[in-house]
Order: sequence, then structure tokens, then C-alpha cells
Amino acid sequence: MQNAIAVIDFGSQYTQLIVRRIRELGYFSRLYQPGELRETGKPPAVILSGGPRSTLEPDAPDIDFDYLRELNVPVLGVCYGMQLLNLKFGGGVKPGNTREYGPATLLPKDGSALFEGLTDRSQIWMSHSDTCQRPDSATILGENLDGIPVALQFDDRFFGIQFHPEVSHTDHGKRVLENFLGLAEDPPEFTIDSFKDELLAQTREQVAGRKVVCGVSGGVDSSVLAALLHEAGIDTRYIFVDTGLLRKNESAEVNELFKQVGIGIETIDASEKFLGALAGESDPEEKRRIIGRLFVEVFFDAVGDDVELLAQGTLYPDVIESATSGSIASTIKTHHNRVDRIMELKAEDRVIEPLHELFKDEVRELGRVLGLPEKVVGRHPFPGPGLAVRCPGEVTEEKLEIIRNADHVFIDLLHQRDWYDHVWQAYAALIPTKTVGVKGDERSYEFALSLRAVTSEDAMTAEWAHLPYELLGEISNRILNEVAGVNRVLYDISTKPPASIEWE
Ligand code: XMP
Repeated sequence: MQNAIAVIDFGSQYTQLIVRRIRELGYFSRLYQPGELRETGKPPAVILSGGPRSTLEPDAPDIDFDYLRELNVPVLGVCYGMQLLNLKFGGGVKPGNTREYGPATLLPKDGSALFEGLTDRSQIWMSHSDTCQRPDSATILGENLDGIPVALQFDDRFFGIQFHPEVSHTDHGKRVLENFLGLAEDPPEFTIDSFKDELLAQTREQVAGRKVVCGVSGGVDSSVLAALLHEAGIDTRYIFVDTGLLRKNESAEVNELFKQVGIGIETIDASEKFLGALAGESDPEEKRRIIGRLFVEVFFDAVGDDVELLAQGTLYPDVIESATSGSIASTIKTHHNRVDRIMELKAEDRVIEPLHELFKDEVRELGRVLGLPEKVVGRHPFPGPGLAVRCPGEVTEEKLEIIRNADHVFIDLLHQRDWYDHVWQAYAALIPTKTVGVKGDERSYEFALSLRAVTSEDAMTAEWAHLPYELLGEISNRILNEVAGVNRVLYDISTKPPASIEWE
């Protein structure tokens, strides 16, 4: 693979999106921290992202500008990135009194390559407070309705825009990125098909004939990973741990799926162990820790000393998140793939993560070209700690059974009514409170259930799905009629943030 188009991360919540948009345009791109500029090799183009800080702060994030110039490639500064470039080229930055956040209008000037093909006026998305006082040498490429420059060209290779081209609210954002990349010499092409061949070769080389063990769960990431290892002809043991916290019929379905694609898996039924260990525990973090610890114990017990390499389905957003650790996202919940035993193996260089360059939708695409059925690649994400995080308070078999049955009805109807593929995730969670109702002329005192369906691009933020009332009514009726132990159904209309997608 040629060197990637380098996106330098100044901390904006949208930075990952820049990388994604570039890949959607068919070019390969990677994210780097500002101090890693020299590690980018010779990228064909560099983008400096936006960020929450002000260039006026004494320890504001900076870039090795001399080196950036030496690279002799096109550079685009976005928001914070633009303000930084503005300073480097001798302009000023003025503190703003308020933050300009939201839509604005772009009026591009004639003849600018960056805005070629744009309409005379279009919506752009702003998020900044400081404003640029441009250096005299800079050319104005576009203004807003008040005549304030929102795009500058500093010299023949350096550009700055005050808006976010990567967010969907900017009408021609992708075109702006495409125009910018058009200035790059020989940008690296990216298609999943060619990336697959490269991944197969890379993985074979990395494994170098050693024995691999890979945990599978039936989820998208581990299934695609298994398909990749299988296709690469790598000697692998595939281990599936049934934690007892899985969805209805899940264990049987996972076995059936792998049989279909010709991969033999070892199933370990550890459900009793997990339920036993969780008995009496209702603290969410403690529950996660118990599950994480036990999972690793059961998994490595099964593996024995047989493992030379462990394959993990880590994706690019996880890599970015750990690289920027200390970020809020990484400390809200204990994710169960960051446990000591795995960290030890990592330190010994015995973990391979072949999918670590890919975003979720790219992993799905890879799964498709590897021949996995749509049922697998289109599957909603499912958390490692399973139904335990959808069962607030103490986990019991009785509660799990209710969740499984209700979830099954919910998902079944979403499939039938063609909604499943339009939501990021959907599930039923049990509300650990019994409420009074009437069933068949008799008083009932049973659990309440919450249904959650969200739309999202990356799980970092989420919107509740606007399912039709009729569908919600149908789901509720079927659950109330078919699922024993429930007499009340609620629909969760919380966005993330402040709520998270899962209940715990
Ligand atoms: P939250 O609840 O944090 O979830 O908004 C964001 C996404 O992550 C999934 N999730 C997990 N995935 N191990 C995982 O592999 C975990 O411990 C875990 N916890 C949450 C969740 O389902 C959603 O897609």
C-alpha cells in the first residue's frame, strides 16, 4: 500500500469522519496525532483537522510547520487547522465572543480549484469561536453572507476552510474534499477488493506459519475475521464461548452459520459459570468486570498452552480510541477486550488485529467480498457482556428469558417490516421493576420492558429511531401477548448523549 493521505487529529469530534469520507471517495487515508507528522512517510496530501482548543492558548496543539512545508504536498486546514495555518503564514487570530455553531452559507469566488463545480451559494457547517485575520498574501476563495472569508489559499499548496467538509450538513463537503485531493499527486486508491488481497498477504506474512486462536461470537467483526483467516489458509482454532448471556437460539445459529461457510468452531457452554458468578451482583461496572474476567478465564482454559497468536477483531475506531486514551469515551464503560491477559499477550507481540485499519461499514463490505451471508454482515452490533447490560440490576435466568423472548419478537418484526437494516441497533431491555396490570380479568404484577432502536453512524452519538406508531403498537401487542412475565412495554426516546446505547 502506498502512503496514506494523512489526516492530522487536533481533537475535533468529526476527525474520524474526514478519514471515512476520503475512503468513500476511493482513496486510502489514515489518522495521525500532530506529533506523528514525521511518521506519515511522504503522504500525497495532508489535512489538518478541526479541534476544540484555541490557537491562542499558550500550549495550543501545534504542528512541525517546517517539515510540513518540506513535504511539498497539498495541505488543507479545517477550522482549527485553518487558524493554525493562518498564524504560520503571518496572519492573526482573534478570540470570538461566542461560538459560531451550525449552518452558514458559502459564496465561492470564481475560479478556485477547491470549489470547482459548487453552486453559487450552498450550506456549510461551522463550529468555531476564534476568527482569522488573514495575512495579506492569502487569497480569499469564498465568503459567507456577511462578506467574511471562510476559505483562504495561503500559497500554491496551502488551503484553509473555516467549515467542516466532512459532515453531511455541508452540502458539497465531499466535492470540496474531492477537489482538494485532485491536487495531490498519485493519491493511493482504496477499494475493499484490492484491500482484501493485501490483507490476506499481510496476515499470512504476519502469522508466518504459527498457530492462531480466534474467538468468535457470531457478530460481524469476529465473523469477518474468521472468514479472512480461513481464506488465508491459516491454521486457526475458532472458539465460541456461550456465556448464557446470548440472544434466543444464538448458540445454535452461530454453529449453523460457521458450518455453512465451512469453518469448524469449538463451542464452550459456560452459561452456568457466568450466571453463578453474576449472582447477587447489581453494580454495572462490577458486572462488566466479572464477565470480562470470566470470559478470559474460560477462553484461555479452552486454549491451553496451544496458542502462539491470538487474533482479535479490533477495528479502526478502537485503535484511534486507545491511541487517544484519556478521552472520555474510553473511560465511560469497561470494555471487555482490554483485559490484562490480552494486554500481556499484546506486550509479547502475540496479538494480531488484521481488521485494525477498517471502519465498521468497510468490515461489512469485506465480509461480503469474502462470501459471508448478508444475515451476518448486516447484523446489528451486540455488546461483549451480552444481555447482562440489558438487564439492569441483578441478572437472573428468569429475567434473561424474558429479555430473550421479547427481543426475539422485536427483531423478528423489524425484519418483517423492513426496518432492521435501517437502524443501527435494536433490542429489548428489562426494567427491573414490577408494575401492576390486568391479564385475563386478573391482577398481574410483572416486569416492565423497554424497547430501544437507534440510528447512528459510529455509535459515538445516536438518535432514537422514529419507528412508525403502528409498528410500535404491533410489537408491543405481540410482546404483551406472547412473552410471559411482562405486562408493560415502553419505547426509549433518549438520544446519545446523554443516554448511552446500552442500559449499562
Ligand atoms: P454505548 O452503550 O456505550 O454503546 O452507547 C456503544 C456501542 O458499543 C457496544 N458496546 C460494547 N461492545 N463490548 C463490545 O464489544 C462492550 O463491552 C460493549 N459495551 C457496549 C454497544 O452495543 C453499542 O453498539
